[in-house]
Amino acid sequence: MLFFIDTANLAQIKEAHDMGVLDGVTTNPSLMAKEGIKGKDNVLKHYVDICNIVNADVSAEVIATDYEGIVREGEELAELHTNIVVKVPMIKDGVKALKYFSERGIRTNCTLVFSAGQALLAAKAGATYVSPFLGRLDDISSDGMQLIRDIRLIYDNYAYETLILAASIRHPMHIIDCAKIGADVVTTPLNVITDLLKHPLTDIGLAKFLADHNK
Ligand code: G3P
Repeated sequence: MLFFIDTANLAQIKEAHDMGVLDGVTTNPSLMAKEGIKGKDNVLKHYVDICNIVNADVSAEVIATDYEGIVREGEELAELHTNIVVKVPMIKDGVKALKYFSERGIRTNCTLVFSAGQALLAAKAGATYVSPFLGRLDDISSDGMQLIRDIRLIYDNYAYETLILAASIRHPMHIIDCAKIGADVVTTPLNVITDLLKHPLTDIGLAKFLADHNK
């Protein structure tokens, strides 16, 4: 399973990268705004800064919602760095753009996916990644994990190569359950990755080993 970090914070990206467990980065306009990155030139520079930390896929989201705009922005993003994956919203013009990018070898991440039907469309259009937002479904008392299961089944039935990138991860059990189901990738905030480290018996056991060593 691949681990992506879901942030535009350079220090957190570096920390996850230094742990040796980072396989990529996802960003979105909200995460960029959270870091105070404003203006096109600054946004594009920030993507390059991220690409220079991790030599792996970095999702950069288009803002346009019309086909021509998505294609124009996506091509500009893809030219920034070979690591860039163009993040495209699950809308009709987005699906059309996914097909355009796929035919030209530009890697894509179809975002804002909340149903199996949307995931099927993304795969048919040749998306590299599909991003089901599992936490946001859980937030409205819907079963986010069932969506991951459904997409896995559908993609396996037809051998679609689109990778399932489980997004909107809230806690470690989301990662564990995604791993059991066979999601290809999880993208999570840094604290959810480091929460995987935690177990009280590890802390107790280590304290005892060190105490015994010092006797
Ligand atoms: O980047 C997409 C997704 O991971 C957003 O997560 O926490 O805003 O629902 P969240």
